[in-house]
Amino acid sequence: MENFLNAMPKAELHLHIEGTLEPELMFLLAERNGINLPYASVEQLKAAYDFGNLQDFLDLYYQGADVLQTEQDFYELTWAYIEHCRAQHVIHIEPFFDPQTHTDRGISFATVINGISRALDDAKKQFGMSSGLIMCFLRHLSEAQAFETLKQAQPHLDKIIGIGLDSSEQGHPPAKFERVFAKAKSMGLLLVAHAGEEGPAQNVIDALDMLHVDRIDHGVRASEDPQLIKRLVKEKIALTVCPLSNTRLKVFSDMSEHNILKMLDVGVKVTVNSDDPAYFGGYLTENFVALYHALDMSKEQALALCRNSFEYSFASPERKVEMV
Ligand code: ADE
Ligand code: ZN
Repeated sequence: MENFLNAMPKAELHLHIEGTLEPELMFLLAERNGINLPYASVEQLKAAYDFGNLQDFLDLYYQGADVLQTEQDFYELTWAYIEHCRAQHVIHIEPFFDPQTHTDRGISFATVINGISRALDDAKKQFGMSSGLIMCFLRHLSEAQAFETLKQAQPHLDKIIGIGLDSSEQGHPPAKFERVFAKAKSMGLLLVAHAGEEGPAQNVIDALDMLHVDRIDHGVRASEDPQLIKRLVKEKIALTVCPLSNTRLKVFSDMSEHNILKMLDVGVKVTVNSDDPAYFGGYLTENFVALYHALDMSKEQALALCRNSFEYSFASPERKVEMV
């Protein structure tokens, strides 16, 4: 079964590129850029990856991103992820990046986006891997800062397919970003938002009704509202679910408690994704394998999850036909 899960063609729709920064590359870039990490070794850093909740993780994740300084650093980060995708038969990817994490410490928007998109272009040329880059706003920052980031993105709109919303969900509901999402939509960008990860089902409803998103990232707490589940099924709204992330961040106490297959079986368009694989113990195959071990996922269920990823991706209709 593990071989089957690795070999089946897959797409990834929820992946933070900064969350693919493996400890070894973090140390390499720290040394190259003359940055002091507050850990003596890779082992000591890995030992810190024991999170009680989302915020515990975010604190480490933002600190780790400090080692990313040059366009080449962003290229190498992205290329390392692409190599994992190659090994796991991931044929289409829609990575997120968090420009504010970098521009707030003096790295230019162009440095970040040029490094990432050059790697995505090379993956397309060398392997035929298709992709679409999604720019996320950090929701713990202000609406004005999100508008400023959207402005910085203007000269680079050819490299971005959509915008997203991530970081601390508690205390930063979708309503805060209603106007900037409306502006992005008017610019022709696709829309996604993290909702119902740690926050309540109401955040999923508000992401749909106030932000008008095309997909929901996570959304697992939607299952607390049976009416909402009915709506997701009826309106065919896809959820980009991240099983290993959810257990590492204690959204579910154990993988055996995870609701993804229950949602799949009632007709919700759920997909499997890795979120921040360098921090949560695995890439896409490991997420599928974890569902097999904990929930006895069948091959049919695994294939249905992959089909959802292709169908609800933002790939062109022609590419979708090739993939499914
Ligand atoms: N940024 C990176 N990973 C995230 C997650 N799982 N939730 C919110 N923001 C994030
Ligand atoms: Zn995420």
